[in-house]
Amino acid sequence: MSRPRKYTPELENIEIELLLEGVAQHYGFEFQEYANAPLRRRIWQTIRREKVRTISGLQEKLLHDYSAMERFLAALSERGSPNSPAFYVTFRSEVVPLLRTYPFVRIWHAGCTSARELYTLAIVLHEEGLYDKSTIYATDVNEQSLKRVSDGVFPLAAVAEYTALYRDSGGKEAFTDYFSGGGRSGIFDEGLKRNIVFGQHNLATDSSFNEFNTILCRNVLSAYNEGVQVRAHKVLYDSLALFGILGLGPRESISASPTENCYAELDAEHRLYRKIR
Ligand SMILES: C[S@@+](CC[C@H](N)C(=O)[O-])C[C@H]1O[C@@H](n2cnc3c(N)ncnc32)[C@H](O)[C@@H]1O
Repeated sequence: MSRPRKYTPELENIEIELLLEGVAQHYGFEFQEYANAPLRRRIWQTIRREKVRTISGLQEKLLHDYSAMERFLAALSERGSPNSPAFYVTFRSEVVPLLRTYPFVRIWHAGCTSARELYTLAIVLHEEGLYDKSTIYATDVNEQSLKRVSDGVFPLAAVAEYTALYRDSGGKEAFTDYFSGGGRSGIFDEGLKRNIVFGQHNLATDSSFNEFNTILCRNVLSAYNEGVQVRAHKVLYDSLALFGILGLGPRESISASPTENCYAELDAEHRLYRKIR
């Protein structure tokens, strides 16, 4: 989205810096390291949606109206996270056989605020007979989104989309078996949450907190500049057991990792890598 004519690039940069600084100081959300172009696009989209006229106007609104801040967070999280049934088909065929060989399975779902992705993973583990010996650690930097995902509520209007994802990702039962409906919302079955541990974790600043057999960190790091990506990849590497699997998003690559040569490609198309040293 292009900037309005009254903005020079210099003025736009100054106001964006002030906006991000204000948000960081007031709420503690640090977006300074987000990649520049997508962040600018989201800011201008939010300006139009919130019906303010300038970046400073948006700053005032975000700082004084938390519901506007939540809408901005949601817009930043959307970032075109693609629906990914083919990823889960490959997960079933390539990763599940490896997970079967472990007595217990620890999976880290880092940047997990897509209910669709998290509960699809839980359903795959359930249908493959692995759920009972698995623990999924679901983390995100954004506490509100984490709460929403842990509630497991989704709009009933999304059922058709979720059913298609379930079917196309190799689902073996009926998707309706996994949620109950009430009013305009569906809620995922409590049983799917039994072995999920939710927690706040910031890949840009926090360290490794456990050792995992598999880490999914999809559509998270591409938002960041190289410095943060390198740091976060180090955390992912330190958190992965030898021969563990790392799954990235379709627009992400292991080449962003300083430990790239410690991984072998398990499935190039679906960005699945195995730690080999
Ligand atoms: C585009 S969504 C992707 C969600 C999900 N992984 C998927 O593929 O659908 C990006 C997620 O990363 C989270 N995120 C952004 N920065 C993060 C950070 N520094 N540490 C942890 N999570 C982060 C966002 O809050 C958001 O939930």
